[in-house]
Amino acid sequence: MSKFVIEGANKISGSIKVHSSKNAILPLLAASLLSSDPIEILDVPLLEDIKVLLQLLSHCGCDVKIEDGKLQITPDIKNGDINVDGVNKLRASILLLGSLLARGKKVVLGMPGGCNIGTRPIDLHIKGLSQLGAEIKLNQGYIEAKVKKLKGAKVYLDFPSVGATENIMIAAVLAEGETIIENAATEPEVVCLANFLNSMGAKVMGAGTDTIRVLGVKKLFGCSFVPIPDRIEAGTYMAMAAMCGGELELTNVICEHIRPIIAKFKESGVKVYEGENAVRVEAPDRILATDIKTLPYPGFPTDMQAPMMSMLSIAKGTSVIIETIFENRFLHVGELVKMGANIKVEGRVAVVEGVKKLKGAKVEAKDLRGGAALVLAALSAEGVSEVEGAFHIDRGYFEFEKNITSLGGKIKRV
Ligand code: EPU
Repeated sequence: MSKFVIEGANKISGSIKVHSSKNAILPLLAASLLSSDPIEILDVPLLEDIKVLLQLLSHCGCDVKIEDGKLQITPDIKNGDINVDGVNKLRASILLLGSLLARGKKVVLGMPGGCNIGTRPIDLHIKGLSQLGAEIKLNQGYIEAKVKKLKGAKVYLDFPSVGATENIMIAAVLAEGETIIENAATEPEVVCLANFLNSMGAKVMGAGTDTIRVLGVKKLFGCSFVPIPDRIEAGTYMAMAAMCGGELELTNVICEHIRPIIAKFKESGVKVYEGENAVRVEAPDRILATDIKTLPYPGFPTDMQAPMMSMLSIAKGTSVIIETIFENRFLHVGELVKMGANIKVEGRVAVVEGVKKLKGAKVEAKDLRGGAALVLAALSAEGVSEVEGAFHIDRGYFEFEKNITSLGGKIKRV
């Protein structure tokens, strides 16, 4: 079990390139199973979650090769029984249900896992896939599902779930007839998946709006695809520079995707300059308090809530943060308090009374984004910190310590 040892209060400045988005790539991997030909995905950071999903694809029978970020998948489904170790390590494994059903396979799938940030039910996935004609049985610890041929249907989502929208889209592209997903998620990762499916020959329309229309096709073909940049990785590094008094340039950024994040940085007094596929931030003398409410896109992303809280813990004034997406996404609060932050939580609301400086402490990452938030806090704090549970952070930030070191931060993995 590795941990990060961080010597704080060093300036974070320089330039780095943002990696492709983990949450965009994971659905592409599941959707690769739909193709009859080999698939190539470029610029893939080999993060833990991506490695695990690739292992699951190999378990199904696919041939998987990755070299220098170039991923080649030759799809083949010999095995729809994936009630194996690994499924429970990440949330995105539930997307294999949609793709295996689309290929007419009988599926046995372990229950998906992922960060412990709430109950994370799968009812909307099950409802949508059932409406397309799948017979799905939930057992203790695993799911059984089968269908002869999925049939297009109208699916209304009670909540614009990112994963459920993706799963239904994946299932619908090879279904007979038309599927309409109403109250669909509009996140950039959903649009990226639609573009990927369309480049394989699918007919997906309206992704990025709340109504997605999918016209089923008979067959999908190979493609070569570049995923979108990681908007959360970008936001996390922006918060890091803002907290550590630096100037940072990020390349491979789609500013449109981080609009709500940029808005909140500007309210906090951070200078943000948008370029073409790039963004530059300049830290203010003192960060200013601002209020945040997490919402589905284009609202403020829940994945940026923890890094933002870390930043606002050293702001001038009081910030109110409301987490509306996940019911248990304040696990970092107790750890930030150990570092001298003044934060009180009442249900889904956190009140952050800014302090001048945080101080180094021994803390524990309990989930991915909360873990990253603690690294930011430690980088800005006086003294040395230890952040246990580095594996949580490895799930979502590729070459984290290498990037931080190149920007002037002092971080070691032990
Ligand atoms: N929900 C249901 N029923 C469902 C599905 C979701 O009630 O069947 C609820 C969830 O419990 C939650 C809300 O809907 O309260 C939103 O969940 P959603 O399905 O949108 O999230 P997800 O697909 O499980 C993805 C990302 C998360 C990110 C959320 C929201 C991946 C692999 N994960 O999760 O990323 O927070 O969308 O944007 O794409 C992370 O990267 O740290 C992370 C947790």
